[in-house]
Amino acid sequence: MTQQTQGSRLEIQGVQKNFGDFTALKSIDLTIEPGELVCFLGPSGCGKTTLLRIIAGLEQQSAGQLFQGSDDISLKPPKDRDFGIVFQSYALFPNMTVCDNIAYGLRSIGMGKTQIKARVSELLELIGLSDHAKKYPAQLSGGQQQRVALARALAPSPGLLLLDEPLSALDAKVRHHLRSEIRNLQKKLGVTTILVTHDQEEALAMADRVVVMNNGVIEQVGTPLEIYQQPKSAFVAEFIGAMNFIDSAPLNGQRVKVGNRELELVRPMPEVQDSVRLAIRPEDVHLMPVGDGDWEGRVEAMDYLGAFIRTQIRLSDVELDLVVDVDPRSARQLDLVVGRSICLHLPSDALHCFAA
Ligand SMILES: Nc1ncnc2c1ncn2[C@@H]1O[C@H](COP(=O)(O)OP(=O)(O)OP(=O)(O)O)[C@@H](O)[C@H]1O
Ligand SMILES: [Mg+2]
Repeated sequence: MTQQTQGSRLEIQGVQKNFGDFTALKSIDLTIEPGELVCFLGPSGCGKTTLLRIIAGLEQQSAGQLFQGSDDISLKPPKDRDFGIVFQSYALFPNMTVCDNIAYGLRSIGMGKTQIKARVSELLELIGLSDHAKKYPAQLSGGQQQRVALARALAPSPGLLLLDEPLSALDAKVRHHLRSEIRNLQKKLGVTTILVTHDQEEALAMADRVVVMNNGVIEQVGTPLEIYQQPKSAFVAEFIGAMNFIDSAPLNGQRVKVGNRELELVRPMPEVQDSVRLAIRPEDVHLMPVGDGDWEGRVEAMDYLGAFIRTQIRLSDVELDLVVDVDPRSARQLDLVVGRSICLHLPSDALHCFAA
């Protein structure tokens, strides 16, 4: 029977980090609930690792406070905080067996020999490596090494599990497999987890909530669905999934002008602006036979991506190329080929509108 790890709530209040005159984190406020798996997602250099290191106490914040449960951990050294951590590179002890690697943290908290043995075999079973206990790290595959690193981090049953791009050194197949393994393990143990990644697919697939970061600030926090369907900024819209952007001028009320056409919007518009950016996902644009839709265009390119075909359509009366995803059956019905004229419709409830 697996011992349930007690997840604890983490509160980050007004955390800022300066390196000299460079501000790596501006003012971060974030609460992570017990048992949640939260992904920090954002482009390289946006501050993900810095924030994770501050949570671990490996880096000292320039301002702000951190609480784990009711415990103020703002000034505590790493050894007095309750977390396990896994980095991108495996960082296992090369001269220790799998068993000894996993047991490492248990010895330092003074656990007895018999208990350690039981805990290690429980963890080995959990990560599916019971037959590899006596091997050394160099005798394991990359994916197996990361599983051992995970078991080592989980061994003392920490309240918080911190993972900094733990899968990015692995090949795609192993990465996909480990994603769901980590996810299942995390839910089973109930351990509050933060996973840092710059891979949006990984974040959307694994997270309960995604924290999208850019330039040292949090752009948006939400469930994968919220982040994908209701991006709050053009940055989030562009960073997560594919998105078409269309420059336009706001008119009265919920109307905007694109070229010499007017469009009605359903979603909220930003506060008064001279110009706005409309955005629409490739799968939300409808293609239809010539004569049926609002816009006319020409098929410029078609890429077969398995489940759908990614087409590029050049609109005739505005200077604009749109990326449109179409399922193979509709493509057949429309007799879609490069060079063909086609009509398209932009459903108003699929149009997002951001400040330019
Ligand atoms: N010790 C340091 N001294 C000076 N600048 C630093 C230091 N550590 C990080 N930075 C800077 O802070 C910014 C954020 O770095 P961080 O490592 O948190 O980014 P990241 O989001 O984890 O990026 P990546 O996806 O590439 O790992 C970067 O511009 C980086 O150069
Ligand atoms: Mg990083």
